[in-house]
Amino acid sequence: MCGIVGYIGNKQAVPILIEGLKKLEYRGYDSAGVAVYNGNDDNINVVKAKGRLSVLENKLKTYCPDGMMGIGHTRWATHGEPNDVNSHPHASQNGIIAVVHNGIIENYMQLKEFLQSKGYCFQSDTDTEVIAHLVEYNYRGDLLNAVIKTLNDLEGSYALGVICTQCPDEFIAARKDSPLIVGIGKNENFIASDIPAILKYTRDIYILEDKEIACVKKDSVSIYNILGEKVKRDIFHVDWDISSAEKGGFEHFMIKEICEEPKAVKSTLSPRLKDSKIVLDNINLTKEYLAQLEKIYIIACGTAYHAGVVGKYAIEKLTRIPVEVELASEFRYRDPIVNKNHLSIVISQSGETLDSLMALREAKKRGARILSVVNVVGSSIARESDNVFYTWAGPEIAVASTKAYNTQLSAMYLFAIDFALKRGTISVDEAKKYRNELDRIPSLIEKIVNDREKIQKFASRHYNAKSIFFIGRGLDYALSMEGSLKLKEISYIHSEAYAGGELKHGTIALIEEGTLVVCPLTQESLFDKMLSNIKEVKARGAVVMAITHEKHALMVEKYADIVITIPDMESLLSPIAAITPMQLFAYYMSVLKGNDVDKPRNLAKSVTVE
Ligand code: M6R
Repeated sequence: MCGIVGYIGNKQAVPILIEGLKKLEYRGYDSAGVAVYNGNDDNINVVKAKGRLSVLENKLKTYCPDGMMGIGHTRWATHGEPNDVNSHPHASQNGIIAVVHNGIIENYMQLKEFLQSKGYCFQSDTDTEVIAHLVEYNYRGDLLNAVIKTLNDLEGSYALGVICTQCPDEFIAARKDSPLIVGIGKNENFIASDIPAILKYTRDIYILEDKEIACVKKDSVSIYNILGEKVKRDIFHVDWDISSAEKGGFEHFMIKEICEEPKAVKSTLSPRLKDSKIVLDNINLTKEYLAQLEKIYIIACGTAYHAGVVGKYAIEKLTRIPVEVELASEFRYRDPIVNKNHLSIVISQSGETLDSLMALREAKKRGARILSVVNVVGSSIARESDNVFYTWAGPEIAVASTKAYNTQLSAMYLFAIDFALKRGTISVDEAKKYRNELDRIPSLIEKIVNDREKIQKFASRHYNAKSIFFIGRGLDYALSMEGSLKLKEISYIHSEAYAGGELKHGTIALIEEGTLVVCPLTQESLFDKMLSNIKEVKARGAVVMAITHEKHALMVEKYADIVITIPDMESLLSPIAAITPMQLFAYYMSVLKGNDVDKPRNLAKSVTVE
């Protein structure tokens, strides 16, 4: 949730830390800070400030500490309100140690009491401050040892950067259940929570594993396990371009990422759509394995969970395998019935969502095979899975997930078709029909994105709405859940998604004159039923925005206030394209309300805490 950067080399650290933090601000943005050591002073110089990174930048204009080693942090508060004191870095009692931390220390209260009994005084309400004091308490002239000793006492999750005045030529980094990479430069080295922060300087990185510690000097990096033994690690070379992680002329990352959907879906589908077949390289779920498979659990959070709901409809329909979709945060604590005859599909854009990672471990412990659908190469979820399907969406920076969702749906459909063909529940011709339809989808989304003006105009008439409902049937219900989440997280407008058939069981009481209701109608077999639902809400005064195939536009126009069309396509696959108008609608509502679209309040991109 928080972003960490660290630097050691021959250049001034502050500009490099700030530059890196800008690329990580999506991870948290309620306060920020830097700690720099210049090799001469008695203390580490710390500058931090509540608010966005720009507030820290302004503060640094009046006083910018010099030094060629430093750590920086952008925070998403968990323990202690966002204020200057609770911001990171945190310094130890005598000022010789400074620490940045991403994660949660679960036993910090016990550690705090212990340290207080030893005379340590605490300045902040954070869990992180115990780490700074504990490293100081454990320090006997060897920073690496002091950190390892400290880590042995910590329960919870962490990615850490630690600097010390007594060790001006090195700093220490460590991770457990929170991401951290080490960037390898020439006469300079880096740490960061995510690759874009250091991509300007190097493409060669080490991905730290859980409970590993790196000793970072300007001309060397050594990695150790928690026992203090050296670990050998291969260099990972980043081959994507920095421009993918920049706005490139767009006003916001979110609209840039929506416009990238055709490319993202194409990059995800093309390598798997070969000739007339679907080829899921290295996933290798054989006919025999699929024939004995008793159940699939799809486990995820937020938008990825909604992709899983679409996956359930599609996989069950084509393969006849029962599928349960589970919120990761619920799954891990409810003693789920999982065994070796079950497959768990874990979906995650970041591959670092802690709830999803813990649920993965729970399913694995109980014997299930893990197939993950992940966007970030080398992320924790990818590394802990038996098989990985990478969605090639490219970096997704806006907190609201958009292009990742379309690519996650692409994965769900590829699985459904491939598994069904292998189980013999669809024919070769049916598989070919779906395969060819998938092939068309990038160009269909392109058309929707290019026609976005109508949605913008509609949004300009409704952005003051107090509450907006999304209703749909079948796959359109799954789609509605995602449309509603997108709207609420960035526009802050109350919104709910309901199954069309469920309205009459209570929700319709909330529909009154002027209530805006968004109604996708992309499911041929449920089309008439959904039209009836539109009539029901219209009769209570609702304003209806319908989303349907071009061929139905004339019919739906008779009932809805506005009809947004998507090109004609297979009902089963329609959610991949029909989500785009909903994302655009959420985007324009947020822009019109003057919100910070890419960094909505209280949220962060990568949720690496429980
Ligand atoms: O990185 P993940 O896909 O695991 O993230 C899961 C959710 O936190 C994420 O989808 C969240 O709901 C987004 N903000 C939605 O736009």
